Amino acid sequence: METNLDRIIKEIELFSVFNSTPGKGVTRFSYSDADKEARKYLVQQFESLDLDLSIDAVGNMRAKRKGTDENAPIVMTGSHIDTVLYGGKFDGVVGVVGALEVVRVLNENNIPTKHPVEVVIFVEEEGSNFMSTMAGSKTMIGQYGPEELKNIVNDKDVSMYELAESSGFSPDTASDFVINPGEIKAMIELHIEQAAVLDAEKIPTGIVNAIAGIKTYTIEIEGVSNHAGATPMHLRNNPMSAAAEIISQVDGIVIQKANTTTVGTVGKIICEPNVANIIPGKVMFTLDVRDVDPQGIKFTVAEFEELLDSAVRKHGVKKRMTLVAEAAPIKLADEIIQIIEEEARLRGIDYKLMNSGAVHDSSMLVDITSVGMIFVPSVNGRSHVQYEKTEFEDIKQGCDLLLGAVYKLAS
Ligand code: GLV
Ligand code: MN
Ligand code: MN
Repeated sequence: METNLDRIIKEIELFSVFNSTPGKGVTRFSYSDADKEARKYLVQQFESLDLDLSIDAVGNMRAKRKGTDENAPIVMTGSHIDTVLYGGKFDGVVGVVGALEVVRVLNENNIPTKHPVEVVIFVEEEGSNFMSTMAGSKTMIGQYGPEELKNIVNDKDVSMYELAESSGFSPDTASDFVINPGEIKAMIELHIEQAAVLDAEKIPTGIVNAIAGIKTYTIEIEGVSNHAGATPMHLRNNPMSAAAEIISQVDGIVIQKANTTTVGTVGKIICEPNVANIIPGKVMFTLDVRDVDPQGIKFTVAEFEELLDSAVRKHGVKKRMTLVAEAAPIKLADEIIQIIEEEARLRGIDYKLMNSGAVHDSSMLVDITSVGMIFVPSVNGRSHVQYEKTEFEDIKQGCDLLLGAVYKLAS
């Protein structure tokens, strides 16, 4: 049994057309018009594949192919269709197309499975709206309910609760859709690697051993806005100078003092009023820290807090540091790793066991089921940019591996 390369290429290209920023990479935030078009296409596919579709309180989709044993737990596979701003066409979509391919191949070969096979599409994996990664899967496992959904807000102060509601979902009913323990036998997600390891070593697939944890903070520094010409240097409380001093030292604390696996990034900065001849009144920036070892995250955050305190004292400004999203590092299930390894050996596909530096919705499911992930190479390791690329032949091999592993688990 194998998946169909032409179909895979066509479907990945098709998803890239559901796009809010044509010509500037793919931008498809959850709840946007582009997202609605992609969801419409998915519903059509689910119907044509004869799947039972359930859509939860925030828009996560679960489309089930019946098993021969009605009571057998589900084998789940899928990913997300939302993207970052100006992103690529592979992140998330590869796992969605792979999951659809698995069902298509089982259907066209009339192959029954004891366990139901379910395609899952998570909303808001990227945190593009609310800076809170994996908000959809967190809702699916009951970590986020209506209150949490009200507390995560976008730049316009609109919450996920409000945006989901105005998009036709019913966030108050979140608890009705929470996955029950025992309901899912296994979850396998196919994804692009988003780093350069497989491409550099010319290995076509990765089997994921662990997924890094993450903490994301916003840091607001408030000073005194004033005239850029008339205010002498010693009479300033300039939040930009404090922010610049802090940001310039982030790489240093991670590289010199944390683990080799720790990464730290300041990816967003906003300055008010953002005018050349005004000393800013306020600067907001983000800090994103990740590691497969929780100590690396803890240590980096502690060092950062010291840095922040000393810069704030020196410049006579005020600070507020807020944790906006977090997820613990996750070890994936050995039994699923073994099944994927066996399948790779059987199909003669070379693979490497590796960790994921990016976070994934699958990791949210580890407390309720056995989770595995398959990676395919990212050309030059580029991702979260429009230059993101994975060779279609590699994607097909990943889809074949996914098909084999899902079939084995569902039989
Ligand atoms: C999501 O892709 C993330 O790792 O930030
Ligand atoms: Mn992704
Ligand atoms: Mn991503």
